[in-house]
Amino acid sequence: MSEVAQNVGATGRANCGACHFKGGGGDGVKHGDLDTSLIKPPKELDVHMSPEGENMVCADCHKTEAHQIPGSRYHMTVNDTHGKDLPESDGMPATCASCHGLKPHKKQKLNDHVDTLACQTCHVPEFARGGKPTLMYWDWSTAGDKARGVEKDENGWTTYNFKKGTEKWEANIIPEYRWFNGDTDYIFAGEQVEPNEKGVIIINKISGAPDDPNARIYPFKIVKGKQGYDPETKQLLVPHLFPFNKEDKTAYWKGFNWDEAFKVGMETAGLPYSGKYEWVDTEMYWPQTHMVAPGEQSLHCDACHSPGGRLTQVAGIYVPGQDRFPWLDFLGWGLALLALIGVAIHAILRILSRKKNAH
Ligand code: HEC
Ligand code: HEC
Ligand code: HEC
Ligand code: HEC
Ligand code: HEC
Repeated sequence: MSEVAQNVGATGRANCGACHFKGGGGDGVKHGDLDTSLIKPPKELDVHMSPEGENMVCADCHKTEAHQIPGSRYHMTVNDTHGKDLPESDGMPATCASCHGLKPHKKQKLNDHVDTLACQTCHVPEFARGGKPTLMYWDWSTAGDKARGVEKDENGWTTYNFKKGTEKWEANIIPEYRWFNGDTDYIFAGEQVEPNEKGVIIINKISGAPDDPNARIYPFKIVKGKQGYDPETKQLLVPHLFPFNKEDKTAYWKGFNWDEAFKVGMETAGLPYSGKYEWVDTEMYWPQTHMVAPGEQSLHCDACHSPGGRLTQVAGIYVPGQDRFPWLDFLGWGLALLALIGVAIHAILRILSRKKNAH
């Protein structure tokens, strides 16, 4: 304790990151935009936190008051209507507009977009950009094959682990874009849930629609997986993973028996279990807000305003240049052809007339 007491000091990226970079059991497992590459990031990775840039610490944006850390992923502030927090604060200092204001750009056309797009959509062009991969897929149903042990791909990233099942790690990922007003509805342990029409249980449902004044198009990491589900009580199952003691064989990571692991896990959580389990597809949304790239590396016009642009999947908007209409193309090429014929006729006439003049 004296060692601890003698080392009390200001917070930094590494000590906030001691928990937030390694949540979920390892570096980069959870967020996608928070991993150990942010301890000393180059400027291309994070303009704010890079020692070559502003060298900010987490608490420069997450400015605490009475040990309350502002910023959330349950109720986020997607539309900051207040703008700059100096001279007067709205109590939410972490948003981009708190420092940059509501019209941050010199170029007016970019400022025209901030009613539709979150700052992060253009300024976090890809996540997991710091050389560390993030976990994108986790299928528990395949776990238990001790003969396979642990398998890795050519990058050294785990593809199979007999304790955890099939994994997929990726880096430099283009986010998925959704309308989002900042509100997220998480499933709690014990809540009754059923798979949606696609057979998927969404762990945390995000809210937001084009006609919602607080909603913007926001970037997300969506992690997919397969988890234990009780088809009778309609609950996601809590597995017992770590053994309580040396004798405990009911833990999955000791006995490798899902029946036992779900039974003891649910019992310990004080929840009912029918004794039947299935594997169900799940998805979880992780908002992307860190790893802000320098201005010149943010999304430029053609990332969206071109055929097959980044926002193709987003409903409720018309993005000029993104969508290709076959008849428009046909008309376009038709016009180009007419123009070419016109040019050709013009050239022939000029050649003819020059010949005439020469005579
Ligand atoms: C340039 C400003 C900035 C810096 C620096 C920053 N953050 Fe954030 N952070 C944000 C914003 C903006 C949000 C979204 C908050 C909201 O809308 O409520 C956020 C959200 C979060 C969240 C909740 C959302 C989530 O994805 O779970 C966590 C946790 C977090 N930050 C941790 C950190 C840590 C740890 C650091 C330092 C390594 C850090 N932040 C540095 C701006 C910043
Ligand atoms: C000892 C571990 C630990 C440390 C150190 C730590 N945090 Fe957290 N933090 C947590 C946990 C746990 C949560 C809750 C996560 C959840 O509910 O999903 C959390 C939540 C947050 C949130 C989101 C709050 C919300 O409502 O979603 C932010 C922002 C945050 N922390 C920032 C920071 C910052 C900035 C630092 C450094 C000054 C820091 N944390 C240090 C463990 C830690
Ligand atoms: C605590 C204040 C603060 C917050 C919050 C903040 N920034 Fe910054 N930001 C700065 C400062 C200071 C600079 C460096 C000076 C400058 O270029 O304006 C900077 C630089 C930038 C740059 C680089 C500009 C360039 O010339 O390359 C971008 C882009 C940017 N911020 C976007 C954002 C986004 C997006 C968010 C929200 C996720 C955000 N900022 C949140 C203070 C902040
Ligand atoms: C449509 C995409 C887009 C959106 C949305 C967007 N930005 Fe930008 N931003 C850019 C681009 C591109 C640049 C680089 C400007 C350039 O090259 O002239 C830039 C530059 C900046 C700069 C540097 C100043 C400047 O004018 O070059 C800051 C600061 C900034 N953005 C902050 C923000 C904040 C804060 C938000 C949200 C309120 C935001 N941006 C929303 C694309 C966007
Ligand atoms: C991240 C995607 C994205 C980027 C990058 C982007 N736009 Fe857009 N743009 C949109 C969306 C979405 C709309 C539709 C807005 C709406 O429906 O309100 C739009 C609308 C427009 C419009 C028509 C509406 C208007 O404001 O006049 C123009 C023109 C435009 N963008 C020009 C640009 C230019 C120029 C750039 C680069 C400086 C750019 N956009 C960058 C997504 C983007």
